[in-house]
Formats: sequence, structure tokens, C-alpha cells
Amino acid sequence: MLSWDDPIAAIKGENQQEPKVRPGMGFQENEDLMTTAGAAPSVSPEPENAGGPAPDYDEEALTGTGLEDIERGAERIRVDDKKIINCNADLNQLVPFKYQWAWQKYLDGCANHWMPQEVNMNADIALWKDPNGLTEDERTIVKRNLGFFSTADSLVANNLVLAVYRHITNPECRQYLLRQAFEEALHTHAYQYCVESLGLDEGEIFNMYREVPSVATKAEWALPFTKHLADPNFRTGTPDADQKLLRELIAFYVIFEGIFFYVGFVQILSMGRRNKMTGVAEQFQYILRDESMHMNFGIDVINQIKVENPHLWTEDFKNEMRDMIAEAVELEAQYARDTMPRGVLGMNAPMFEEYLHFIANRRCAQIGLAELYPGAENPFPWMSEVLDLKKEKNFFETRVTEYQTGGALSWD
Ligand SMILES: [Fe+2]
Ligand SMILES: [Fe+2]
Repeated sequence: MLSWDDPIAAIKGENQQEPKVRPGMGFQENEDLMTTAGAAPSVSPEPENAGGPAPDYDEEALTGTGLEDIERGAERIRVDDKKIINCNADLNQLVPFKYQWAWQKYLDGCANHWMPQEVNMNADIALWKDPNGLTEDERTIVKRNLGFFSTADSLVANNLVLAVYRHITNPECRQYLLRQAFEEALHTHAYQYCVESLGLDEGEIFNMYREVPSVATKAEWALPFTKHLADPNFRTGTPDADQKLLRELIAFYVIFEGIFFYVGFVQILSMGRRNKMTGVAEQFQYILRDESMHMNFGIDVINQIKVENPHLWTEDFKNEMRDMIAEAVELEAQYARDTMPRGVLGMNAPMFEEYLHFIANRRCAQIGLAELYPGAENPFPWMSEVLDLKKEKNFFETRVTEYQTGGALSWD
């Protein structure tokens, strides 16, 4: 009899008695199993509901989503069955990997995990509370950027789960998209945490994209792209539809996350470099590191789609994409002018224009477009050092075990 006091000993036979064979205990001999197994199970080639009432959903519309009926008895997945878009191979099977770069980015994203509450905000709270702690221009920079990013990251997350995810028909890419979606949630959490810590008016910050034109404009620019893909009737599989997907990926990964975030990143990180709002700046450092990986993942996806579907990458389309990037640079330059009407922190709007030209050239090169602004230089070379940030560099040094937020602090 198997002893529940010491089941391991019982299994090993150390209690000198044969353990009783029981289903579910994991040590049944095949022979025992066969005595009760009976005939091999037969698998019906018909779907489960064959002969039953017709489903009240459109099975056809679910093709290529991963939610199709299970194809019982179908062959195992081969790497060659996998395609980044318009793939009908089972999307619920992660392996075998075809796109190692996507899996590696998923692993790297997990290795970079952080939480907003792990950043000490006490110095920021004291500085913000001090009437002489910051200039009005510096306060504008902090509030405008929290305003822009707090809703922008939610827009990116909604775009991922409601628009992009469905049309990327590859499990390892979807695995990264799920990780990215969680990171976007962390970013929105980080902005909320800054707002709460500093005791800012949350309505003023989170409603800013409905009140401040230069904050609204960038989100408004991006929305039509995602609306095409989120439309339940939208399907990829034609050159026109596949170009819509590609255009949307460039709009979100290359422009929204790759250009529209960068004035804000430079502004907040400049404050941190001057020892101001170091907690907010540290949050932005981790966000920048995540965003840089999001953008690189998007660029890999875009280039993979081009490799597998070269007919989409026409001269007309390339010209359209260059015009789109140039338009975005102008919008972001406008955001720089709006957030810093005067020079502040040793920076001014023209420097940002030069910086935007520099990064736009890089973005073009990364997706195989000719540079838009030949000769543009980087006025903020320190930004590339920030991008090389390793988690260990300062994360655990500044980490504290208890956190206080605006609501919990007493200023008396
Ligand atoms: Fe984000
Ligand atoms: Fe992102």
C-alpha cells in the first residue's frame, strides 16, 4: 500500500511493499495501462459540431488567427510552414522557431524587467514641492511629457492588441508582442506613478491630449493607421491590404515609437543629467531602453515582411514612406518648439530639429530608405550612452525597499 506519509519512499519501494498502482500516480507500467486501455482511440475527421447547429460566428473570418477549429490528426509544424504574415500554419505552436531574432528579443525584454515602484521618487517630490526648485519652463517640460506619454503608451498598447497582433501570423513574434504589450502597461503605470508621487492634477495630465494641440496632434496623426487594421473587416492577403499593414507598422514602430518619443526622452533625461527630477528621469531611462527594443523589433518585422513580400516595397511606396517620415519630423519639431518656447537646460528647439533629422536618417537607413537629411549630426551624443544602459548599472544601487507617494507623505 502506498504510504501518504512518505510517498517517495513508497514509490521507491523502501517500505518493502509494492506501491499500489493507481491512475494519475505516474508510475504505471505500460502493461498495466494496456489492460484497461482497450482499442486505440479513433479520431473523427469531422469537426466537433458536425451535424449540430451551425455556429453563430464566421469561422472563415477566423482563418489565420490561432482561433480556428483544431485540425485533428494534422501533420507537425515545420519551420518552412511559417510566414510572418498571411500564414495558415497553427499559430498556437510556438516552436519550431523560424525567427530567432523575435524569440531573442522576447528573452531580452524579460531580462530587462523593472517596475515603476522600484524607482525612488523622494528627491523629485522634494524638488517639485520647493517653490524655487525648478523654473516654470522646466515644470512645463515635465508636465507636457507626462501628458503626452501617459496617453501615447496606452494608444500604442491598444494598437498592438487590437490592430497589429491579429495580422502578425507568427507565434514567436506574437510572443514578443505580448511582452511588449505588458511593457506598454508598465510605461503607463510609470507615468501614473510619477503623477501620483508629485501630487500632480491627474485630470490635467491624462486629459492633455484633448487640451494641448501639440500633444493631440501626434496621437491624431497616428490614429488613422491603426483604425484600418483594427477594422474587423480588414484582412491582409492582397497587395493593397499588405501595404496598409506595412504602412501602419512604419507609422507606429518607426515613427511613433522611433521619432515621436524622442524629444520627450531627451528633455527628461537632460533634466536627470543636471540632477533634477532624477526619479522621473530614471523611469524614462528604463522606458527608453524598452522603447528602443520595441522599435528594433518593429524594424525587424518590417524588414522580414519585405524579404517575404518584395512586391510590396515599390518605388512609390518607398517615396510615400519617406514623405511620411519627413511629415512626422515636422510634427515632432513643432512639439519641441511648443514644449520649450525658450532655451532651457542648455538646449533649444533648433538643436532638437537637428537631432530629429539625425534620427530620421537612422530610421530610414534601418528600413532601407535613402536618408532624408544628408549630413545631419547628433547634438546629443550622450543619448547613445543612455541607450546602452545596463540594468545593473544603477538599478540596484538606487533601489529602496519602501516607497512613499504624494498621498502618503507629510510635508509639515
Ligand atoms: Fe511604451
Ligand atoms: Fe513601446
